[in-house]
Amino acid sequence: EKGGYDYFMLKEIAEQPKAVADTLLGRIDAAGSLSLDELRIPDSVLREIDKIVIVACGTAFHAGMIAKYAIEHWTRIACETELASEFRYRDPILDPRTLVIAISQSGETMDTLMALRHAREQGAKVLAICNTNGSTIPRESDAVLYTHAGPEVAVASTKAFLTQLVACYLVALYLGQVRGTKWGDEVRSMIRELSAISTQVEQVLGTMEPVRELARALADKDTVLFLGRHVGFPVALEGALKLKELAYMHAEGFAAGELKHGPIALIEDDLPVVVVVPSPRGRSVLHDKIVSNIQEIRARGARTIVIAEEGDEAVVPYADHLIRVPATPTLLQPLVATVPLQVFACELATARGNEVDQPRNLAKSVTVE
Ligand code: M6R
Repeated sequence: EKGGYDYFMLKEIAEQPKAVADTLLGRIDAAGSLSLDELRIPDSVLREIDKIVIVACGTAFHAGMIAKYAIEHWTRIACETELASEFRYRDPILDPRTLVIAISQSGETMDTLMALRHAREQGAKVLAICNTNGSTIPRESDAVLYTHAGPEVAVASTKAFLTQLVACYLVALYLGQVRGTKWGDEVRSMIRELSAISTQVEQVLGTMEPVRELARALADKDTVLFLGRHVGFPVALEGALKLKELAYMHAEGFAAGELKHGPIALIEDDLPVVVVVPSPRGRSVLHDKIVSNIQEIRARGARTIVIAEEGDEAVVPYADHLIRVPATPTLLQPLVATVPLQVFACELATARGNEVDQPRNLAKSVTVE
């Protein structure tokens, strides 16, 4: 059943190019526009939405954090992303013009289900992004956009995450298309870029041997830190979560701009720090800032593990280890930048003798609050 792989997680990591392609399948028409009729929310309603709230847990929450950047940029609708377990306890402000998006691989996560029930009671429309046909969360939502990752068995979410991102980008671009924003051309070009992502994920998977080697070399470490900015920040959080759940190591993700407000005090000699570097094209200010963050931590002894796009030469002098990913638009970079972090965590767990598919204390779906 594991298709020749030692673990379901390895199989599921390898299935990502197909999962991404399958999630796009049939949703882009011949003219290069999106058709998401399956949403069953009339365009007239989508045009009236004035706020989006995303609720989710764990890895799905990280997908939701990334979605916020995409939604706000492409649609200009205010969007917030909140942990489902916190959402209803703060008496959130919701009304019929609010779209709540609940993201869940299993469709059975109790925290997310309770959040969406609360949202519907307040009159908000709920759209589920889900990987499991007919599960509770889509059944209780007004609409659903299924991810087509296929069954995910390993407790650590991998291919579901990538397809959740694709689904979030589709929703963001579709809203942009329906409402018409000043980014019309960008929306069209992003749809084209999304179609190329499956091949780019495949390319990343073909270059992972040095990442596995590095993971084995770090098996005795106690702590690994992860830094990112913009959409790289949730990627850093996701890298840290994977390492916690699989390698049982202390791992933390930070927004790189926060370093100087505290976390830089953690840097000591030979501490591994993974840095997700945004594209030097586009938002180049962010890129330059993160390069100086890498310089700062390296000057204090950190062992820098840098994930940067091909052709980004500015990072080379400061990277103890350099992991290349294909050039993508900044907003889409999480689709390629997350993959090495999954491989890294899986290999570290193996090197530490941990059970990869069934980490201690965890269940695949958390059906209690
Ligand atoms: O099934 P869900 O997407 O609702 O699950 C949410 C989280 O429990 C899940 O993503 C969890 O964080 C994973 N084990 C992370 O790898």
